[in-house]
Amino acid sequence: MLTFRRALVAAAFIITVLFFITHSSSPSPSSSAVEFPKGQQPVDGLKQPQTLKSDNNAVHGGHNNRPSVSGQRAFQDMSHMTLDEKLAYQYPYDVELKFPGYIWQTWKWTPAQGEFTFREQEASWTEKHPGFIHEVITDQVAVHLIRLLYASVPEVIEAYESLPLAVLKADFFRYLILFARGGIYTDIDTSAIRSAADWLPESVPRDQIGLVIGIEADPDRPDWAQWYSRRIQFCQWTIQAKPGHPVLREVIKRITDQTLARKRLGTLDRITDREVIEFSGPALWTDVIFDYFNDERYFDMARSPGLIDWHNFTGMEDPKRVGDVVVLPITSFSPGVQQMGAKDYDDPMAFVKHDFEGTWKPESERHIGENNNQ
Ligand SMILES: *[C@@H]1O[C@H](CO)[C@@H](O)[C@H](O)[C@H]1NC(C)=O
Repeated sequence: MLTFRRALVAAAFIITVLFFITHSSSPSPSSSAVEFPKGQQPVDGLKQPQTLKSDNNAVHGGHNNRPSVSGQRAFQDMSHMTLDEKLAYQYPYDVELKFPGYIWQTWKWTPAQGEFTFREQEASWTEKHPGFIHEVITDQVAVHLIRLLYASVPEVIEAYESLPLAVLKADFFRYLILFARGGIYTDIDTSAIRSAADWLPESVPRDQIGLVIGIEADPDRPDWAQWYSRRIQFCQWTIQAKPGHPVLREVIKRITDQTLARKRLGTLDRITDREVIEFSGPALWTDVIFDYFNDERYFDMARSPGLIDWHNFTGMEDPKRVGDVVVLPITSFSPGVQQMGAKDYDDPMAFVKHDFEGTWKPESERHIGENNNQ
């Protein structure tokens, strides 16, 4: 009982803090001018990046439609809306907003508890992001936060609460918190090597980018499929996003639909560790991102030089931009893995260090190639 009440108080506290933060001009990674390292030239490996269609804004809650607090528009009758429409209505996307100054992490314990063993990694984020709100959210608090943030989208709450494995909830939570609030999500076993203010080249206008992602795997070997689920796999242990990003909306929609469908069939409890990667993990994440890159609702495909798939990202050493998404090279979020072209931790493009240790994830399943790639 005490734990529950404490969790509730903590959740209420977080919401209050967030309320005030969203009402003041919060610091953002883009606000500090940091010189970019030499050799890191303007993005655009894809010479003619997919350009955002101009009608994107009208369809998906855009620039001229900025609510002061998105959660306060819930008075409209939403019962006739599809899940996708509810999500878009509740958390509209505005690419011109600053990246919110939040760092979100989840773990079984908070840094205030004795069992917390990631103090060094956790502190690295605070140190490199002065002025950011940094939250480590436990399971008990997460469920209350999701209930508050998604009160008008009950399907999402039902799906979150129904997920049978902690790893599924942990995956789902990162998309949900970034979609609702934006900022940076990063796994608890991940350290910041460089501030997020340095992640994007200076030449990239911050008001045209809404999602920053890294590459987890780029296995350039004929038998790659034995080790990885996709030829290029985007990582989801560190993500930076603006609230309402359409990629997050689609990921949330697919997980929710899939969860509720399996719940009705009675097969939800049978999700195996191996299925997690497809259900909520990097395989789903990667598929949704590629679908987005080739989606004519968002991009002017008639003026595109061609479809976008793994070919366009393999072996890349500089960031690439596709519309409002920046894809960082493998070195940025996976330095030091000593394979697939990733450079070491001291490389100027190395931004975070992921330990592949203390998560809920069945890492042996997710990174089966890691120790077998000599
Ligand atoms: C992606 O790569 C493929 C194959 O190399 C190419 O045909 C296509 O034009 C590229 N797409 C873009 C948008 O550059």
